[in-house]
Amino acid sequence: MFKEYETEILAPDEAGLSRAAELIREGKCGAFPTETVYGLGANACDGEAVARIFKAKGRPQDNPLIVHVSDRAMADTVCEFTPLGEKLAEKFWPGPLTLVLPKKDTVADNVTAGLSTVGVRMPSHPVAHAFIEKCGLPIAAPSANTSGKPSPATAEHVLDDLRYRIPFVIDGGPVTIGLESTVVNATGDYPVLLRPGKVSREELAELCGQVLLPGEGDFDKPASPGMKYRHYAPQGRVHVGRNIGELEVLRLDLSMHRMRMPVLILSNATADEMMRRGARPHEIYRLGDTKEEIASNWFTALRYCDKTGFMDIITEEFDEEGLGLALNNRISRAASKE
Ligand code: TXA
Ligand code: MG
Repeated sequence: MFKEYETEILAPDEAGLSRAAELIREGKCGAFPTETVYGLGANACDGEAVARIFKAKGRPQDNPLIVHVSDRAMADTVCEFTPLGEKLAEKFWPGPLTLVLPKKDTVADNVTAGLSTVGVRMPSHPVAHAFIEKCGLPIAAPSANTSGKPSPATAEHVLDDLRYRIPFVIDGGPVTIGLESTVVNATGDYPVLLRPGKVSREELAELCGQVLLPGEGDFDKPASPGMKYRHYAPQGRVHVGRNIGELEVLRLDLSMHRMRMPVLILSNATADEMMRRGARPHEIYRLGDTKEEIASNWFTALRYCDKTGFMDIITEEFDEEGLGLALNNRISRAASKE
């Protein structure tokens, strides 16, 4: 393999952050932890630096990037705040909410793929905050995975995909949330939910009175360009059961007729029920008890399947309350064949 860089694994301390900021200011890109997933960042105002992100990830050029900021003054340099944007930022920043707002000219054109809007987010992760502040620049960053692979929840996941392709990763340990930020368009009177995440539809509705879904607003462009790609995907086939009965049928069908052992990626409660129905412990990967635990382990589970070569993955659908909507969204994307 062609080694473009000897990837530096930096500690999240003063020396590590200074080195990372030095590389960013030279126009390089590198990975850093956030509370959602690891990001692959570069100076959002430098088109050549941003181009290195697309190249390292193999990302389609028409999928825009999120700009990460460390404070409100920095956000004001990249976008125009609408009254709705003000209200959402006031309540949910710093945190896992990306606001799509009218962009300013400071942002390089390849960040937004030619759109007049830009996605902006202020992460709450202390290392992400310290890194952006040290750079003193708005940082354009997608998730730090190879395009089409599951998002990275640890520095090891980043290295599995991007070692030798990027100059550094800041190792801040495992992320806490584990699913990417909620993305809302905040240019109108009500938020349009473009990608569900930890900030839930219910929380948005409580603050804003109403939440629209793509198609309900007045948009002339595809609402969120990224949503058309097969994202979050493992190498195996993902089969989704809507209830215990369907899960059981899937398990029996796949293990008997195809003669290859599927892995069941399930919540603890469903795993227990499946074992009562004859599934064996080694067939099961336990995600956890709560939706929070399940979300934080989801991409790690998919990466485990890739590493161990499972070709059939069986998982379940959740109720759509709170994080359930985001979980089901990532599950259906992993299962889609487009
Ligand atoms: O949690 C996250 O959001 C992580 C961390 C690193 O912050 N980042 C992330 O970036 O998930 P990425 O590139 O994997 O996903 C960005 C999503 C895509 O679906 C993209 O289409 C959408 O945000 N997006 C970005 N800018 C947009 C814009 N101007 N209008 C509509 N959608 C936009
Ligand atoms: Mg991504």
